[in-house]
Amino acid sequence: MSRIYNFSAGPATLPESVLQEAQAELVDFGGAGMSVMEMSHRSKEYDAVHEETIANIRELMDIPEDYAVLFLTGGASGQFAMVPMNLLGEGQTADYTNSGSWASKAIKEAKGIGSVNIAADCGKELPARVPEQDELNLTPGAAYLHITSNETISGAQWKTFPRAEAPLVADMSSDILSRPFDLSPFGLIYAGAQKNLGPAGMTVVIIRKDLADRVSDRVPVMFRYKTHIENNSLYNTPPCFNIYMVMLVTRWIKEQGGLKAMAEINAGKAARLYDVIDASEFYRGTAAPAYRSDMNVTFRLPSEELEAGFIKAAAARDMKGLKGHRSVGGIRASIYNAFPEAGVDALAAFMKEFEKENG
Ligand SMILES: Cc1ncc(COP(=O)(O)O)c(C=O)c1O
Repeated sequence: MSRIYNFSAGPATLPESVLQEAQAELVDFGGAGMSVMEMSHRSKEYDAVHEETIANIRELMDIPEDYAVLFLTGGASGQFAMVPMNLLGEGQTADYTNSGSWASKAIKEAKGIGSVNIAADCGKELPARVPEQDELNLTPGAAYLHITSNETISGAQWKTFPRAEAPLVADMSSDILSRPFDLSPFGLIYAGAQKNLGPAGMTVVIIRKDLADRVSDRVPVMFRYKTHIENNSLYNTPPCFNIYMVMLVTRWIKEQGGLKAMAEINAGKAARLYDVIDASEFYRGTAAPAYRSDMNVTFRLPSEELEAGFIKAAAARDMKGLKGHRSVGGIRASIYNAFPEAGVDALAAFMKEFEKENG
């Protein structure tokens, strides 16, 4: 068996040891004589998986008891709707920052549900960035302030989070569990699993429990956070196998030393690629240096032909998934928590070699 370096933005690389563990337990989970996939979500064996996954996320992110950790489905895109359905009451306004493609999708959905104020908009700027605190035009008494902590497509990341009176709501799909931060200004965090948490098919929501009481009776039961808090994410059948995979991934992150260690490793990996870009006239980073992401390193070459040649030559060296998002083109190296350091070194060396040959 040989594994390639997979730079895909999501679904993305998982720790190899996690995949091996899942493989070893696939047919018979912990002596139960069946797979986690075949097990009742009400069973004692599954309950241990469910509770450990919640406990691991709580421990890693230092989440206090007044917040709930939920496992939902429908992706981060489902949360674009569920957040305003639950938290944006009639007569209220929600503030949204537009930092790029994902933020603008969240905004579009929220506008169909309630009143939205765009507190700052740099979504189409190049080089890409996120708004600064002094640009924010916040609504007094806003229901919440929504941010996209890492724009997976442009490669712009909030390095410090904005200050607001309203609770912060963050789409952390592409940088959850990649760095420590103070949770207290946040009312809600959501993340599709398929980058830093596990396989696609589940969404983690971390919500301050009192906010769930805002929901109107008109919201269907399944789409209320309150329902899932009261039922510990077991109102309906949860994505049990995905939750099990997140349990293994969060165990792995704990073994790496938790989020502080993860952040150091991630910053080191990203710096190795940004150093090559900064030292070069050939590569041009597409995010402004102060905001560039430790998760998605985006750059352009002098022409689209060279970009196509770069992607092809990298693939021949078993480095795949480097093509930028179809909406922006260019190159994107997604190097989430589980992406190996050796793969970053291989790409940095290849970039230098490709520049020498084509620059
Ligand atoms: C920041 C961000 N938000 C939302 C999404 C959409 O997630 P999903 O496909 O789980 O709905 C993505 C997916 O790549 C993303 O990167």
